[in-house]
Amino acid sequence: MVSATTFLEARGVRRSFGTDPILRDVNLCIRSGESVSITGPSGSGKTTLLSILALLLKPDAGEVWVAGSETSSLSDRERSRLRNQFFGYVFQATHLVGSLPVLDNVLVPALIAGSGRGRRDYARSLLAGLGLGNRENHLPHMLSLGQRRRVALARALVLEPPFILADEPTNDLDPRRAGQIAEFLLGLPARGHALVIVTHDRALANEADIRLDLHDGVLRDAAESSDEPSVDETEAAVLHDPFARVRGTTLDDQQ
Ligand SMILES: Nc1ncnc2c1ncn2[C@@H]1O[C@H](COP(=O)(O)OP(=O)(O)O)[C@@H](O)[C@H]1O
Ligand SMILES: [Mg+2]
Repeated sequence: MVSATTFLEARGVRRSFGTDPILRDVNLCIRSGESVSITGPSGSGKTTLLSILALLLKPDAGEVWVAGSETSSLSDRERSRLRNQFFGYVFQATHLVGSLPVLDNVLVPALIAGSGRGRRDYARSLLAGLGLGNRENHLPHMLSLGQRRRVALARALVLEPPFILADEPTNDLDPRRAGQIAEFLLGLPARGHALVIVTHDRALANEADIRLDLHDGVLRDAAESSDEPSVDETEAAVLHDPFARVRGTTLDDQQ
């Protein structure tokens, strides 16, 4: 279980690629137990921002604070240590290790942290909770996209990190499977985690405690920019409420 309140903060974050300014002045503060959604048009910098928050990418300017430490002056090794300790990252492409069975994939962060054996039972309970109890020994290519997403989710959670960052975790799933993953994610703040979710799915975004929109390199309250097209309609897979159909259902292993 996540202990005391932990903060993740971005102050005046800027990032360009070449001459393209992507993030101009991003400010954000998230604490454990909160959920934050970030919407914005395709190419607006959502993945870039999530990568900076998770210390996977450095900003050109500005500060990222993790649990009281300003991270820009840290060595790569120290950043890696903080990343492993504080973040669970759900990549848009799941990035599972193709040669490893499901259970071992979930245990990868624990192996890196040197606690693989101690986390085994917890990893199995996560898989069971995600409806994948009977898929522990399968290889990733034997699974559907929805199942692989859930394995990636279990991997992000295996060390019980304070911050879960999820990049479009429901994309390309049918509404029912998308709803199941969304419900699982939205239950994390009650377990003490902070959740930052990047999504094109407005119904999912609206379920978060704090709803932000990334537009022209600046994060704004989504309510303030709701008159502007914050969702790329061409990429939006699910714009209606995917939860309506699944509330009360349990996760299964069909997709
Ligand atoms: N490594 C990179 N090198 C050059 N340009 C990049 C790189 N990563 C992202 N970009 C560009 O930055 C912009 C924002 O990308 P991204 O953060 O992936 O947006 P989003 O996740 O909102 O779709 C895009 O124009 C993209 O092409
Ligand atoms: Mg993206």
